[in-house]
Amino acid sequence: MDYIRWKDDYSVDIATIDDQHKELFRLINAFYSNIMNKSNKEAMWKVIEELETYVYSHFATEEALMLKANYPNYNSHKAEHESFKEKVIDFKKRYNEGRLLLSIEVTRFIKDWITVHIMQTDHQYKGKI
Ligand SMILES: [Fe+2]
Repeated sequence: MDYIRWKDDYSVDIATIDDQHKELFRLINAFYSNIMNKSNKEAMWKVIEELETYVYSHFATEEALMLKANYPNYNSHKAEHESFKEKVIDFKKRYNEGRLLLSIEVTRFIKDWITVHIMQTDHQYKGKI
């Protein structure tokens, strides 16, 4: 069963971004099922790196669109992306050092951050970029 499922309410009316958000959901679900299946560290690491790489390129796509459109909330939006990236770096570091147990709580944090960010922050650029 999917941990996070796409719904039309998430749409920002930009096909490229919606597709990227859907791919993010797919990767979060993969992360979740690896936790549920108690995958080994190597498999977990692979899925973490995949998620991280995708998040970075997705943020870069959004930021480029906002810049191109002279979007007024660019700086605050980018700051949210940066703080999430720092969180991911911190998770990876702690996990690698054996100081973080990847759990449902970690998955929930990622899921909640992404969905709140889409609904509250991404939705603000709807029709403006
Ligand atoms: Fe965003």
